[in-house]
Amino acid sequence: MDVVVGVREARAADAGALAEALGRNRGHMRATEPDRDERYYTAERQAERLADGGRRWFAVEGDGGDDERIVGAAILSGIVLGPFRSASLGYWVDGERTGRGIASLLVAEVLRAARDELGLHRIEASTLLDNHASQRVLAKAGFERIGTAPRYLHIAGAWRDHHLFQRILHDQPPPLA
Ligand SMILES: CC(C)(COP(=O)(O)OP(=O)(O)OC[C@H]1O[C@@H](n2cnc3c(N)ncnc32)[C@H](O)[C@@H]1OP(=O)(O)O)[C@@H](O)C(=O)NCCC(=O)NCCS
Repeated sequence: MDVVVGVREARAADAGALAEALGRNRGHMRATEPDRDERYYTAERQAERLADGGRRWFAVEGDGGDDERIVGAAILSGIVLGPFRSASLGYWVDGERTGRGIASLLVAEVLRAARDELGLHRIEASTLLDNHASQRVLAKAGFERIGTAPRYLHIAGAWRDHHLFQRILHDQPPPLA
């Protein structure tokens, strides 16, 4: 049977599968992630993260049964309403599944939910200066580069410069408060 990749929102029951996917992709993500301790790769720690208030989506493959496997993830964190109505986007794709449009599929679903369900005005994202694949994902999804921030995030053992991007979702005013 063909492997089907779909995108769905994360559930609390995904903690074990998420820990497994992160462990499998430890090397693949090392250069673009903060340093992690061993506990990060446990279901217990991932259950805590799944309850931290961010919204997450997973790219999953399988036929919808028990064999489902997480092959990518996107997270919207730092969701702020009021006159800002903005959030930060992050994502990763399994090292054995890149180059098939999976990150683009995830980002498209996040943008849809951010606009239609959360009513956000803007999504921001950042990449290391040399993460050209990620910059391409953002460009394909309509993000524009808005600057470069020196020593912006602590990634792979050092404070590293990042390009900053944003995607404006609509220009409706926020609800009056
Ligand atoms: C970045 C990442 C999420 C991309 O996932 P993906 O599923 O391969 O992304 P997509 O297939 O949707 O799109 C990738 C695009 O980048 C392009 N690309 C890949 N490597 C590239 C490179 N070195 N330079 C320029 N473009 C590149 C692909 O050709 C594709 O563009 P196209 O559709 O015009 O051909 C994945 O490589 C990853 O998880 N990397 C490690 C974690 C990471 O970097 N996360 C993002 C942190 S900001």
